Amino acid sequence: MTQEQQTRKGNAIANTYGRVNNLTSHERFRVSFCTDLDKSVLVNNFEKRGWSQVGSDDDWNFYWACVQSCRGIFSVDSGYRMNDNQMINHFPNHYELSRKDLLVKNIKRYRKDLERDGNGLAEKAESNWSNSASTRYLHLDFVPITFVLPADYNMFVEEYRKNPQSTWIMKPCGKSQGAGIFLINKLSKLKRWSREAKNAFHPQIAKESYVISRYIDNPLLIGGKKFDLRLYVLVTSFRPLKAYLFKQGFCRFCTVKYDTSVTELDNMYVHLTNVSVQKHGTEYNSLHGGKWSVQNLALYLEGTHGKEVTDRLFGAISWLIVHSLKAVAPVMANDRHCFECYGYDIIIDNKLKPWLVEVNASPSLTSTTVTDRILKYKLIDNILSVVLPPDGVPDVRWNKIPSQDALGNFELLLDEELASQEDNSHAHHNKNSRSLGNRWK
Ligand SMILES: Nc1ncnc2c1ncn2[C@@H]1O[C@H](COP(=O)(O)OP(=O)(O)O)[C@@H](O)[C@H]1O
Ligand SMILES: [Mg+2]
Repeated sequence: MTQEQQTRKGNAIANTYGRVNNLTSHERFRVSFCTDLDKSVLVNNFEKRGWSQVGSDDDWNFYWACVQSCRGIFSVDSGYRMNDNQMINHFPNHYELSRKDLLVKNIKRYRKDLERDGNGLAEKAESNWSNSASTRYLHLDFVPITFVLPADYNMFVEEYRKNPQSTWIMKPCGKSQGAGIFLINKLSKLKRWSREAKNAFHPQIAKESYVISRYIDNPLLIGGKKFDLRLYVLVTSFRPLKAYLFKQGFCRFCTVKYDTSVTELDNMYVHLTNVSVQKHGTEYNSLHGGKWSVQNLALYLEGTHGKEVTDRLFGAISWLIVHSLKAVAPVMANDRHCFECYGYDIIIDNKLKPWLVEVNASPSLTSTTVTDRILKYKLIDNILSVVLPPDGVPDVRWNKIPSQDALGNFELLLDEELASQEDNSHAHHNKNSRSLGNRWK
């Protein structure tokens, strides 16, 4: 930031908190933004706030960057040092949460740490999964059993042999949008794939690591079709953890009816809910884009399963999100210039248990329908009002406690700082103020 900008910022702050308003709007601090993504939902939001666009080499205050640019900025070699009036939309090592293999590794470690400390959260119980006895975590069993290949191959085979009837899903760690994913129901198929992958014709595949996860083969179906949830979670700090959930998430439906028969195992229109996959199908409806709002889902579930069950499900979803974040909080570089909006992919099974499938650090801002565009515009608008101080100028010295109004469609999931303040002042009597409300209505 230039000297002049600093002075204007100083004036703008004095203006906001001081008594005398002697600055014209023209003299106010003008935020400069920069973006790698040419998306109207972003640029329209920035321009609405009177911000001006600059290049990434210029003096920017707010950068909506792709993960590669962000990595570049934070790399030791770049020598880039951010000042107090700069913010960026990724944490330097977000991949601890968003890479499929690291997410599982961190959750496994989190559970082990709690177990070692004798924490009741890590309580285990005998369970019967597909007729074989195994122990599972009672409260932290929210990711399907997962192994990294090729590293954990032997452990996978051991698990596989316990339930040779079950189906597994192979996913490349470094890809997204359903690319490279396939299902297997026989070890021989995995062996064949492994041989072919090592083939000289596919040297790039041979180097890639994969996760192999238990396939949730009993998803909740609506109209006979599988769907998953895309929920947006905004994190403004990992230590203390400050996380917010956007109330307007949505369901993404498959276009073809769910069918577990072996002949359909390779039919991705049956098994993968990614819009990027489904939109190529002949049954894709571009008017609704195969989407349903979470509010609609809640109403449907209340009608079919009752309110109590529905509330319990959404409570379990919030629980899952909070613990996935707690699992990575100790390893995240908690840079105060950063915030991040994650796209959570969650599958609900037919016993109404939610499963965390993956977390995206760059959820799609592409709009496939009009409703989608409105929703994503609102999402960005609300993100900006939560991450920016009341005067709208990026400032890392701010305490990151937004007003209720600034939250918009976000609901507080957890603010460890506020929670400890409330504990200290015994304010927990007044539970309505900052506790988990019914955020889905
Ligand atoms: N363990 C699983 N059980 C059932 N379906 C799954 C599972 N993992 C992924 N899927 C399906 O595959 C889709 C893509 O998987 P995901 O992990 O989100 O990878 P990508 O990065 O390609 O989106 C999910 O949206 C979901 O529909
Ligand atoms: Mg996904």
